[in-house]
Amino acid sequence: MEYPSAVRQPIKFLIVLVAGLGLLTWGAFLVMQETTRGWVERDLTLRARLAANGAAPALATGFRAGKPAELRTALLNLVRDERILGVSACAPEGRLVATAGTTPAGFGCDRLKSFVVPPGLALGVPSREWMHVASVPGGTAHLSALPIEDEGGLAGFVILVHDMAFAERREAQGRNLLLVAFFLLSLCAALVTIVAVRLSWRGWTRQLQRVLKGGAQSDEFRPLLRDVRELVDDIMTERDADGDSGAWTAERLKHTLKRNLHGEKIVVVSNREPYIHDRAPDGSLRVLHPASGLVTALEPVMRACSGVWIAHGSGTADREVVDKHDRVLVPPDEKIYSIRRVWLTEEEEKGYYYGFSNEGLWPLCHVAHTRPLFRTTDWNHYQAVNRKFADAVCAEAEIEDPIVLIQDYHLALAPRLIRDQLPRATVIGFWHIPWPNAERFGICPWREELLDGMLGASMLGFHTQAHCNNFLDSVDRYLESRIDRERQAVVQQGRSTLVRPYPISLEWPVRWLADLPPAAECRRSVLAELELPEGTLLGVGVDRLDYTKGIEERLLAVERLLELRPEFLGKFVFVQLAAPSRTAIDRYRDLNASVEAIARKINLRFGDGSYQPIILKASHHEPPVVFRYYRAADVCYVSSLDDGMNLVAKEFVAARDDERGVLVLSQFTGAARELTEALIVNPYDLDESAGALGAALTMPLDEQRTRLRSMRAFVAEFNIYRWGGRMLRDAARLRRRDRLTGRLSDRFAAHFPGAEA
Ligand code: F6P
Repeated sequence: MEYPSAVRQPIKFLIVLVAGLGLLTWGAFLVMQETTRGWVERDLTLRARLAANGAAPALATGFRAGKPAELRTALLNLVRDERILGVSACAPEGRLVATAGTTPAGFGCDRLKSFVVPPGLALGVPSREWMHVASVPGGTAHLSALPIEDEGGLAGFVILVHDMAFAERREAQGRNLLLVAFFLLSLCAALVTIVAVRLSWRGWTRQLQRVLKGGAQSDEFRPLLRDVRELVDDIMTERDADGDSGAWTAERLKHTLKRNLHGEKIVVVSNREPYIHDRAPDGSLRVLHPASGLVTALEPVMRACSGVWIAHGSGTADREVVDKHDRVLVPPDEKIYSIRRVWLTEEEEKGYYYGFSNEGLWPLCHVAHTRPLFRTTDWNHYQAVNRKFADAVCAEAEIEDPIVLIQDYHLALAPRLIRDQLPRATVIGFWHIPWPNAERFGICPWREELLDGMLGASMLGFHTQAHCNNFLDSVDRYLESRIDRERQAVVQQGRSTLVRPYPISLEWPVRWLADLPPAAECRRSVLAELELPEGTLLGVGVDRLDYTKGIEERLLAVERLLELRPEFLGKFVFVQLAAPSRTAIDRYRDLNASVEAIARKINLRFGDGSYQPIILKASHHEPPVVFRYYRAADVCYVSSLDDGMNLVAKEFVAARDDERGVLVLSQFTGAARELTEALIVNPYDLDESAGALGAALTMPLDEQRTRLRSMRAFVAEFNIYRWGGRMLRDAARLRRRDRLTGRLSDRFAAHFPGAEA
């Protein structure tokens, strides 16, 4: 029978209590038994000594005269005591001379021989008394052997045997008494516990109800109260304007902003800009969408919220299109929000972007076996550029407490620099890449400065809880601060920074899909474009050419597949769309060369005039092209060696509204924690990856559908609007709290001028 937990808990407690008390009682009984045994034995020895002393003159005379009858008379006097079973008079050499009463076998003069032999007790030598306890039929007996002396010499021994049954009777009584005491104690303890629990539960519940109704304040309940409030807020945020709990959309995010933050202007800051104005080789002006997860995620949020996005103007025509405040309205045809461009000199870009950000922090944060390089000159540029961005934010802020969203590792110092100028700003930092463990982070010569810079933020977001934990551990190890693990916050000089996971995602539906032909048509056009026969099995990889993406491992897995399963030869082609990235850095140029060499080697090994298993397209591709490839593919392989989230995986899922195609996904991506229906692999394990590719290419359509359906439902539900909504709601909560604290300290200052709040 299953009991409810309200019954099970006290029962469990009582079982433990009774077992504990039982053990205690048993222990007490053993100690008591040992002690009383000792006392009884000492008492009996004393009694025997007294009796023998009393009879000693008569016994000595009997021994001297050698008259057993006289000895027996003396012994008979001794056995009158009912506790004495028998008495024996023994000659010094152990011979029985006389006896009285009933001496149990083995307790007579014979016994004396065996016991007198040890040192100091040799026969014929006046010796100490000795005693012995042993079992006899029907109980236990106590034997005392006492020397009888006559004119300075040993005349003989008298042996008295006491019955110890009375002691056993006492022990039995003691045991019964203890059992009764144990039973009563258990009963009382159980009753007291139940009553105490009931009373304190009632009191606790009443107090909790008072606290929840706002009637009482108590330190004990503060964390609980905070959790309840957050939960209620969460539920409220999950409901849309009309009280429905619908899906998250751009509209709903806009509404959340209006309701929670009174439609205040959002300032986004990142290194990469969402639209790059560029001069094409033919001289025409074109607008590029950078291959950047950050842009993919944030751009729809800005479309919904409007405001200003501050970023580095990196396009060749960027300066031509901005106004006198360095602003340009985007998206080019819709003009919803503005980009405020920050200009960097070549030197600055080299030190801050290529140097400190991408040769230092990028390899530091990714476990991808590239050594981080830290140069003081780069660090100086990094500080200066962060200051430049922070100044731009302060110039753009129209109120004293703007909402500023600072993106990524390029701008770790900006939160503190902004806070110094705008102490009441709500600064939210989001770190788009992994955060390493504390030891690894400790490699950075400016670790304290980076952490302190980030802690200027009111909130810091990471993709996963593991990254949050690593960050908190790093702060714990390298900075003077208090970590509030319960609230997941770092407290410095009374000011706290919340550290939370906000797994990033995509807009849903993805806008690039609206004008895209259905999957079958995409497939036909892609195969035609690649000059591949109809029926070719197509694999696709889409990345910036970066060593963290595991592109070399990916191509090697394709090679392994062709080695293990030659039936795919001539039928399977893997297309890698690789956007050149950070090409001013040697490591990236080396990677480029290595990827090309691997592709060439595989094509030489398995290809011929008409078949090339690898097609490497190392150039920038605009989103409509990328989505067309997703739709055309049978399998998409994301093989990152370390990746904060990886939005390519989610883009592939979003693109497949035909519910066909298989995602093979590295276990080292944040996305692997969410897209669990993908075929999850360790990209370093080429056999496993090749096996997964083979399984993907032969997966029945039903299974493809089931997996994709589930992943599509997840991405649709946990889309970028929800990500933005959660962050803005948390920001709103912080602002409310900060405003309250601000008002309180203003009042305090007004009442007590000169005192510190
Ligand atoms: O993943 C980190 C990140 O900064 C992303 O935010 C962005 O997608 C990518 O790297 C692009 O890097 P870059 O801006 O250097 O081209």
